[in-house]
Amino acid sequence: MKKIRKILLNESDMPRQWYNLAADIKVPPFMSPNGPVPEEAWAPVFPMNLVEQEYSTQRWIDIPEGILELLTKWRPSPLHRAYELEQAIGTPARIYYKNESLSPAGSHKPNTAVAQAWYNKEFGITRLSTETGAGQWGSALAFACSLVGLECKVFMVRISFDQKPYRKLMMQTWGATCVASPSKETQAGRNILEKTPDTPGSLGIAISEAIEAAVTDTTGNTRYSLGSVLNHVMMHQTIIGLEAKKQLKIAGENKADVIIGCAGGGSNFAGLAFPFVLDKINGAQIDIIPVEPASCPTLTKGPYVYDHGDTAKMTPLVAMYSLGHSFVPAPIHAGGLRYHGMAPLVSKATKEGLLSPLALHQLESYEAGILFAKTEGIIPAPETTHAIAAVIREAKKAKEEGKQKVILFNFSGHGLLDLTGYDRFLTGQLENYELPDDVIAENLKEIAGYPKP
Ligand SMILES: Cc1ncc(COP(=O)(O)O)c(C=O)c1O
Repeated sequence: MKKIRKILLNESDMPRQWYNLAADIKVPPFMSPNGPVPEEAWAPVFPMNLVEQEYSTQRWIDIPEGILELLTKWRPSPLHRAYELEQAIGTPARIYYKNESLSPAGSHKPNTAVAQAWYNKEFGITRLSTETGAGQWGSALAFACSLVGLECKVFMVRISFDQKPYRKLMMQTWGATCVASPSKETQAGRNILEKTPDTPGSLGIAISEAIEAAVTDTTGNTRYSLGSVLNHVMMHQTIIGLEAKKQLKIAGENKADVIIGCAGGGSNFAGLAFPFVLDKINGAQIDIIPVEPASCPTLTKGPYVYDHGDTAKMTPLVAMYSLGHSFVPAPIHAGGLRYHGMAPLVSKATKEGLLSPLALHQLESYEAGILFAKTEGIIPAPETTHAIAAVIREAKKAKEEGKQKVILFNFSGHGLLDLTGYDRFLTGQLENYELPDDVIAENLKEIAGYPKP
């Protein structure tokens, strides 16, 4: 029998609305010392059309025609059936993955980058500043800004800046400026360099720098853009899960049993999972698993607290699982998973028992990534290998139980510019980092007196 490996949608089948989980889960408000943060307070940071989305509790939000046109440059993305991976594991489970690596920047990140660039342009903004961990987000925003005609400035976490020079070149090719963070260009960066000149940097530090760069621009024409964490970013990514649902139906599946995505700030996971979280809220039996690194175990070992989203405490307090805003994670190669906090919506869904988070080590993840590359052909980003390792565990479990489960995961990006990590794995130079409980406790001391969500 002829196997159907890829389920493709036409451009005309693309979802016309995003799903907003904030309609179905109540997230505690952002807090400042004066109480809940009103929408207007964000005016220097984000354009008001995006702030409105951030606060919206409307369940379905129309995708503007202009954004749909940008998205069709590479969307809809294919849903693949991973036959050879199934065979290698010997599992009765049927494994599907949504291939987000086919976007121009190579990951899911452009789904929100083009939306954010478009809304900023509509609002009359001319320049965006942002941070990037692995370089995936920075390159996605650089690409989006070049499409709509905005300037773009990227603060790239020092360790990735050194490990991944080609990501920087992609940003420059699309016309953006990229500097290593911490940098001497901002007060936040200078303060950190003074205390720790050799710091590998962190997403928390780079976020502080990018926000400072936006709010201190006296022309008023710069805004900040965040590639993950916020409600509107999660929402823009739901196009992944909404497409996947249509594609599973075409594949003859009437339900998914297990949904998996790796989670740094939460956006690719949320994008695939939230439409299925809605089904779960409505009674469906689904295991929904965000996968994080054991070296940065926010959801599995952090408390649910109010904490800042960045190291220099420029953001208001956000209700989320956190390891403390000063936490600098070990220099693992999955740079996009090295974030101390987690999206408020992913955090609240976890708190409500809708999600079952899992923390995995990088060696198991790289092994999984290599099995995937050998069976399915595509070399995964180090972040994505965490999702694949969890898929393999679930597929083995299905084999032990003799169950024909449907496992769906998000293939969030390819690793063609992350081969240094593979080199280190293949030459035996990589090690696991378990984050000791006393280090977590030490980092959390600083936020002990904060209000509780
Ligand atoms: C390929 C890839 N997957 C996953 C992530 C993690 O981010 P998020 O949790 O927002 O999807 C990143 C972040 O840089 C990434 O580049």
